[in-house]
Amino acid sequence: MTIYLGGDHTSVELKNALISFLQKKGWETVDFGTNTPESVDYPDFAEKVGNAVVQNPKSMGIVICGTGIGISIAANKICGIRCANCTSVQMAEMARKHNNANVLAVGARIVAEEEAIKMVEVFLNTPFEGGRHQKRLEKIIIIEQCKK
Ligand code: RB5
Repeated sequence: MTIYLGGDHTSVELKNALISFLQKKGWETVDFGTNTPESVDYPDFAEKVGNAVVQNPKSMGIVICGTGIGISIAANKICGIRCANCTSVQMAEMARKHNNANVLAVGARIVAEEEAIKMVEVFLNTPFEGGRHQKRLEKIIIIEQCKK
């Protein structure tokens, strides 16, 4: 499975730490940037990661901004993206089990690196439970009204 990553200028250090963790664990990673401290706009990176995840069903995304809020809002505008802005390992686990999230958002100014690594590990290794949660996801798809 490929992991697409992207974030704004606040994300660079955390994103690099997550990429080296993921590569050490054998995951394939694609980095959409940004990779400099120059101020950039988080929607641009949400769009890159979100489109890549939608186009490759065997993938997941990780998006990072200062709080995780802006970039998760932007990612969730893309049809087929279920992006969860998580601040704990428990949230990352539930985002997979109950919500079948395909993108994890992390706030680089909110979550410590060590915690973010644990969240990513749990997010990527936890399967969707399906069952009663499937019906709820189907209702989200109806609200989503994707244009073909
Ligand atoms: C950038 O300063 C900051 O606003 C952005 O990273 C993010 O936190 C927005 O939600």
